Amino acid sequence: MSKKFRVVITEPVIDEGLEKLQEIAEITILERGSVITEEDVIRELKGFDGAITMLSNPVTEKVFASLPDLKVIGNHAVGYNNIDIEAAKKHDVVIGNTPDVLTDSTADLTVGLLLAVTRKIAAADQFIRDGKFDGWEPRGFLGLELGGRTLGIVGMGRIGQAVAKRMNAFGMNIVYHNRNQLSNEIEAKLEAGYIHKLDDLLEQSDIISLHCPLNEETHHLINKQRIRKFLKYTVIINTARGPVIEEEALAEALISGHIAGAGLDVFEEEPKIHPKLVQSPNTVLLPHIGSATHHTRKRMTELAADAVYYVLGERTDELKTRVV
Ligand code: GLV
Ligand code: GLV
Repeated sequence: MSKKFRVVITEPVIDEGLEKLQEIAEITILERGSVITEEDVIRELKGFDGAITMLSNPVTEKVFASLPDLKVIGNHAVGYNNIDIEAAKKHDVVIGNTPDVLTDSTADLTVGLLLAVTRKIAAADQFIRDGKFDGWEPRGFLGLELGGRTLGIVGMGRIGQAVAKRMNAFGMNIVYHNRNQLSNEIEAKLEAGYIHKLDDLLEQSDIISLHCPLNEETHHLINKQRIRKFLKYTVIINTARGPVIEEEALAEALISGHIAGAGLDVFEEEPKIHPKLVQSPNTVLLPHIGSATHHTRKRMTELAADAVYYVLGERTDELKTRVV
């Protein structure tokens, strides 16, 4: 069969995930980091029938208006806040994402960050490398015990639920805030209690973990006023999206000692890191690696490629990951 379609991928991905798409399309893979601005997206996607984009690529109204040939985008992420969804609808471009396949890897990393902060794992590792370890001491690196403490989960979708499941095993009390309350059955299984008002959850959680999507309602959801309501010595974990937290206010609360620590895998202006965060005590900072396992990244590439494969092959009905 001749390859009828032209597809571009904005970053090198996991090649094995592209096998099916290669049957119908000539695939161009761009160099790492070559698509950053809206203008880059327009220039690099021009003339292609389909594209696989990354969460760092701004796909705006202007992009859709400038690319009349584009029929489909597979976004290589579960989150699609980088894409103007209304504009996609208007210009009749189908968008697919990569749900489910990264739930476990992201939940695992959340637990890792939570432990790294509460047990000072990264700082203790640095202590060894700095040559400072001079023997066991009764008061060294004292952290927070998890059993019996309250974990407040903000956003109880797939990832939030997977975190609840894991943290139950640590003996934590789990409470959650979500747009909709889960069914009694799921709540019972997760041993998680619903809190209708976000502020009430923030006022009683020893550890807060964010798992909501980024949209207009969740931008700076955790702002200066809300951080003031945190219990003293709260730890906050964010593996969702950076702009959900007002970063400057968070850094100030860490530096003043109002809260005890933060574990962040995402930032407001990636890849820029707020200079005050770098100086904040008890803070573990990771370069957005929530879904970074071989298994998950291969499945993400497959799912993003599926969107393009089904739409270009005129089998859109079979696309299960369609966002619009
Ligand atoms: C990662 O952040 C994703 O949305 O997949
Ligand atoms: C993401 O997939 C979520 O639903 O939490």
